[in-house]
Amino acid sequence: MNLLAVETSCDETAFALCDLDRYRSGSRDWLIQELVASQAELHDPYGGVVPELAAREHLKSLPLLFQQLDPVSIDAIAVTRGPGLKGSLLVGISFARALAFSRGLPLIDVNHIEAHLLSGELSAPLSYPYLSMVVSGGHTFLAHVEGFRRYSVLADTLDDAAGEAFDKSASLLDLPYPGGPALSALAIGGDPLRFKLPVPREEGKFSFSGLKTAILRLIQLQRRESPGELSDAVRRDIAASVQHSIVRQLIERVLDGCRKHPVSNLVLSGGVAANSYLQATLAQELSAVGVKLIVPERKWCTDNAAMIGLVGMKLLLNGGEFSAERSNCDALPRWPIRDLPRG
Ligand code: KG4
Ligand code: ZN
Repeated sequence: MNLLAVETSCDETAFALCDLDRYRSGSRDWLIQELVASQAELHDPYGGVVPELAAREHLKSLPLLFQQLDPVSIDAIAVTRGPGLKGSLLVGISFARALAFSRGLPLIDVNHIEAHLLSGELSAPLSYPYLSMVVSGGHTFLAHVEGFRRYSVLADTLDDAAGEAFDKSASLLDLPYPGGPALSALAIGGDPLRFKLPVPREEGKFSFSGLKTAILRLIQLQRRESPGELSDAVRRDIAASVQHSIVRQLIERVLDGCRKHPVSNLVLSGGVAANSYLQATLAQELSAVGVKLIVPERKWCTDNAAMIGLVGMKLLLNGGEFSAERSNCDALPRWPIRDLPRG
């Protein structure tokens, strides 16, 4: 039996073909094929994802990608139902639903955040419990994963996501979008402790909205002290200090989590997981408390369909009613994992 996973929650159109029998038998070799069409170039000129354009592009990409799938039988379909951009979600869901309906296949709706949380399982054999942190452009989220559908949220963001904080800070330094990689490149060789930027300490919460104001003030102050363009050295030190302040907050929350929940592994995923300063500092601090850092391959850190397939297979194997006729597969732009039924 094979399952086709469909992901269109933001700006990647992705399919994954998964061998359910192999997965059921415990084999790690269950991923038959992955296809992804990135829209990055389409949105770059706008400095962020344009929802209307994203939805239209999914509509174009889905049939094109579908034609490139290996000619294997498809016996079930899993699709991202949310959270994400409403229009983008609707396009993927409509596609998946039409396919499931026309072929009489089960349609499994998957929560995108849950898929990120479990994405560590794509690259390493992992046993529960573990901690999982998702840091992307849209989410910053730390959870204790005790098993499938047994999650406790340890920290969540009420304002900006960590990736957004990187992007906004980068734009204040006139760096191109997406700002994360540009800012971390600029930070190389900079002094992360030269400028003191806020690191909110409240347990259970991530907050990055104060950072932008602090950076603006810092840049104004620097300009007052030495009028004209900021020197390269100052820009480098600002970038390093910004990166340090974002990373510090992420690490503090992870360490809070490790104190409360003894685990052997922490999974780090999301686009920001690519940040080498974050990876290096986090690995070091975690090893001091006996925890191993697991970062899935880059293609599985960012939005992908393999993680949707993984959750789809778990749900299917758990039993449950998944007929394509079910009416409750509408898009859920907001869908906190707290709302998932507990296993
Ligand atoms: O998961 P992702 O690819 O997609 C969305 O959430 O949409 O994450 C993208 C985010 C962007 O905010 C980008 O600036 C950030 O991940 N990012 C980074 C790095 N690479 C990507 N942030 C910091 N350092 C990086 N090396
Ligand atoms: Zn995502």
